[in-house]
Parts: sequence; C-alpha cells; structure tokens
Amino acid sequence: MGKISEKSIRSFIYKVCVVGDGGVGKTSMVLRYCENTFKDNYIMTIGSNFSTKQVELEEYPNYLVKLQLWDLAGQKHFSFVRPPFYRGGSGIIYTFDLTRRSSFQNILEWKEEVEKVIGNGKPSILVGNKIDLAEKGNREVGETDGESLKDEINAISYHEASARENINVESIFEELTLAILKNTQKL
Ligand code: GTP
Repeated sequence: MGKISEKSIRSFIYKVCVVGDGGVGKTSMVLRYCENTFKDNYIMTIGSNFSTKQVELEEYPNYLVKLQLWDLAGQKHFSFVRPPFYRGGSGIIYTFDLTRRSSFQNILEWKEEVEKVIGNGKPSILVGNKIDLAEKGNREVGETDGESLKDEINAISYHEASARENINVESIFEELTLAILKNTQKL
C-alpha cells in the first residue's frame, strides 16, 4: 500500500446505539471493543454509557472514522430516559442473550422504540451474545431463529458473539461502520 498523504484523509464521526434487554452484555461488548477487557460482575447501566473508538478500515485506509458508542440502560424502568439518546444515531446494534429467550423476543420492541426516533433506514446488526455460555448447553435461541429475526427486522447481518471470550466483537463493530459509511457516503 502506498503512503497516504494527509490531504487525502477524510474524517467522520458516527453515533452508534447499542440496545437490548438488561444484562444481555451491551456494556461488556463496548468495553471489549474499546478497551479489550471484560468484567464478570454485573453493574447495571443507569441511563447511558458513552465511549469512543477510532476505527481503521482495511478497505478505506484514507477514511478516519470515530465511533461514538452509546450503550443504553436495558432495564424496563429506564425506558423513559432512552429516546433522546437515539437522536442522530447512524447505526444500531440490537443485542440479545443466547441463553435467555425473552431477551430475543423483546428485540422487536427495541426496534420499535429506536425507530420511533430515528426512522427505519439506518443500518443495524443483530447480535446473540454469550455464545460461550450457549456452548455449555444453556442455549435458548437457535442460530436459524437468529437468522430469521435478522430478516424480520431488516438487519444487515446476524452474529453470535461473546464479549467474555472476545468472539466476533471487533468484526461486528467494523461491519456496522462500513455499512454506515456506505449508507452515508454512497461508496
Ligand atoms: P444493562 O446495563 O442492565 O443494560 O446490562 P448490559 O446489557 O449492559 O449487560 P452487561 O454488559 O452489564 O453484562 C451483564 C452480565 O453478563 C455481567 O455479569 C457480564 O459479566 C455478563 N456477560 C456479558 N457478556 C458476556 C459474555 O459474552 N459471556 C458471559 N459468560 N457473560 C457475559
């Protein structure tokens, strides 16, 4: 690859919202992606957490993308504080827990809550988290169910991941970033 001149560098900032039921692993996914760490203890998010991450895309080495990651409190009693945080969102990660079927069933409600604010044209990815636990025999959602829900909610892809074991986390955020770039810059 040739040297990239400073002039040809283009910078973008995109807001991504990570949503899903309480305890599915939203904070853990963001923490794994941004700081490559994991915490076993559960500290419930109150309102929202905000992190940033610079993304390097092999396909577009002259594009500097900074993601603003909003990880929103998933517990029901925080539903009244969430809508303003969706405003300006360029992409969504819908997350459920592969070992808790109710969190999978609630994804349709999450979609409705988000789209009330940002409309239905933004790229999204559906993620079944805690694959490490699912593989130990605790799986409550099959891969084909995930794929069907992905089609139903019009997400660009479905991935099974583990924030704990660092499975698929980085590639999910990169894939979404690429989709956002394509959506907004018409690449
Ligand atoms: P809220 O803040 O309530 O919305 O929850 P959250 O979706 O942000 O979940 P959080 O990341 O706080 O994780 C909840 C619990 O699940 C914590 O105890 C995490 O350690 C655990 N956890 C998260 N991801 C994984 C994973 O991939 N595998 C396993 N085994 N545990 C996980």
